[in-house]
Formats: sequence, C-alpha cells, structure tokens
Amino acid sequence: MSKLNIIFWTMTGNTQIMADCIADGAKSAGADVKIYNVSEITPAQALDADMLALGCPAMGAEALEESEFEPFFAKLLPELDGRTVALFGSYGWGGGEWMNKWQERVTAAGGTVFRGAGLIINDRPDDDGMTQCEELGKLLARA
Ligand SMILES: Cc1cc2nc3c(=O)[nH]c(=O)nc-3n(C[C@H](O)[C@H](O)[C@H](O)COP(=O)(O)O)c2cc1C
Repeated sequence: MSKLNIIFWTMTGNTQIMADCIADGAKSAGADVKIYNVSEITPAQALDADMLALGCPAMGAEALEESEFEPFFAKLLPELDGRTVALFGSYGWGGGEWMNKWQERVTAAGGTVFRGAGLIINDRPDDDGMTQCEELGKLLARA
C-alpha cells in the first residue's frame, strides 16, 4: 500500500477542503493517507512517505503563506531533488501566478511536480472542484 502524506496551510478553510477531498480520493483507491496542518509536522517527518502532496493558497502578492508554510517549504525544498510532489491550493483574484512560481521552485530544485502542474481552485471548491481533488487523490494512490 502506498503511503501518502498530505500537508497543508489554510486561512479560511478552502485549501483544507481540497486536502480533505484529496485524502478521501486516495483512501478510496487504497492508499495509507496521513493529513497534517503544516504546523504539526517537520520537513523530515513529511518526507517519510512514498508520495507527498503540499497545499497552500495564494497569499501575500502571489506567494506562499510566509510565516508557517514558506519556512517549512524552504527547508523541504532541497530534499525534493529526485522526488515527485503534488501541489494544490485555492486562490482568489489572481490568475494562478503563485502556483507557477511554486512549480518552478520544485523543478529548479530537481523535483518533479505530479502531473506537470499543481491543482488550483478559485475560492471554495464547488462539487466539480471537490471531484477534481478526489481524482487527484486517486491518481496519487496509484502512482
Ligand atoms: C492576505 C491575503 C493575500 C492574498 N493574496 C492573494 C494573491 O496574491 N492572489 C490570489 O489569487 N489570491 C490571494 N488571496 C486570496 C486567497 O488565496 C483565497 O481567499 C483563498 O481561497 C484562501 O484559501 P484558504 O481558505 O485555504 O485560506 C489572498 C488572501 C489574503 C487574505
């Protein structure tokens, strides 16, 4: 059974809904899933999995949340060399630029973004958005 760690930060709950739906999808496809708020886990603990999914909404000016998620991700980043990681998050008024920058950081560190791009959803996931998250979870479980 593949082990999936899902680690997220959220302010208003939208990215947490995404994380929960990814977890549901992965569990339904047989993965051993653990889900953590970023404040609950260290980068070293996060890496103890076959597959990693990281979630953070667009914050600041098209950036990762700076006080908890960014320090966690900055420490994790060198360890992503040679690994595949799924990225996801909710955004508001932008066009997803924060996710483009996030993807580029993973790639520049020698990592691979699962399926080539992160999953982004505008504001609170609706039924279609929740289905997209569940499908991502299923794909991660089978990867
Ligand atoms: C301080 C702050 C900065 C934000 N910056 C951006 C931004 O640069 N681009 C964007 O598309 N949305 C931005 N947003 C909107 C959030 O990404 C959006 O509300 C998202 O759904 C929040 O996800 P969450 O519920 O997981 O916290 C910002 C929101 C806040 C509160």
